Amino acid sequence: MGSSANKPQLIVDGKRVSGRGFSDLRNLKITAGVLKKANGSAMIEWGKNRILAAVYGPREVFPKHMTDPRKALINARYVMAPFSSMEEHGRSGPNRRSIEISKVAKHVFENNVLVHMFPKTMININMDVLQSDGGTRVAAVTAASVALVDAGIPVRDLVQGVSIGKIEGTQVSDLDKDEDNYGESDMPAIVSLRTGEVLLYQMDGKLTRVEVDTALSMIFEGAKIVREKQVEALRAKYESNLSEARE
Ligand code: CDP
Repeated sequence: MGSSANKPQLIVDGKRVSGRGFSDLRNLKITAGVLKKANGSAMIEWGKNRILAAVYGPREVFPKHMTDPRKALINARYVMAPFSSMEEHGRSGPNRRSIEISKVAKHVFENNVLVHMFPKTMININMDVLQSDGGTRVAAVTAASVALVDAGIPVRDLVQGVSIGKIEGTQVSDLDKDEDNYGESDMPAIVSLRTGEVLLYQMDGKLTRVEVDTALSMIFEGAKIVREKQVEALRAKYESNLSEARE
């Protein structure tokens, strides 16, 4: 949460400054199969966020001694490009935050990919943030889920997420950067609508028990919209493959 010294107003005349209603998501577009050389890929454009996800594998494990005879290893890598925001990202290598996000994304996909079908292999999931404006971890995992399916890797479900926050005492969906930085709380989560599971759940700031319950139901509501966009992206890719094959 940002300092309160230069805090911009986040709600004006009962509306968010962007004009969005409290549970409205930002504009969202997903495109599957944007890279020809990756096994699977997706580009997500969500508000001002632009994130590219690329999946490679299942393939031979490197380094070899990490090989697991029972299942595929999941490697997840989230990284922000040095030019992805106005903040200083001069050192584009991993930092504490990107290591944390990579780790939580890895846990999501270890519980989502049918890893036991591919023993002695690894699956690399790359999430590169090209432009960021709040909510990049949920956007990155949402894109990576599409990229995995685009790669033909069997998963339990498409997974998706939304970040729910509290600004000026009101709970709102899909925080942008100012709402994230100057709001009272930020709760990103990734869910599976098919199983009702919560695969990632983090929280910054404080919420009451009742607010956590409200946030969770807002996440599941938002996830339905996000899932539709994921399915649309995969369907468009599949249909373009079919028409290419016919030509
Ligand atoms: O992106 P997400 O909301 O998942 O993560 P955050 O740590 O809550 O960061 C919120 C936003 O602050 C990011 O989306 C970026 O726009 C910005 N940020 C940044 O530009 N550089 C950082 N090192 C950390 C955050």
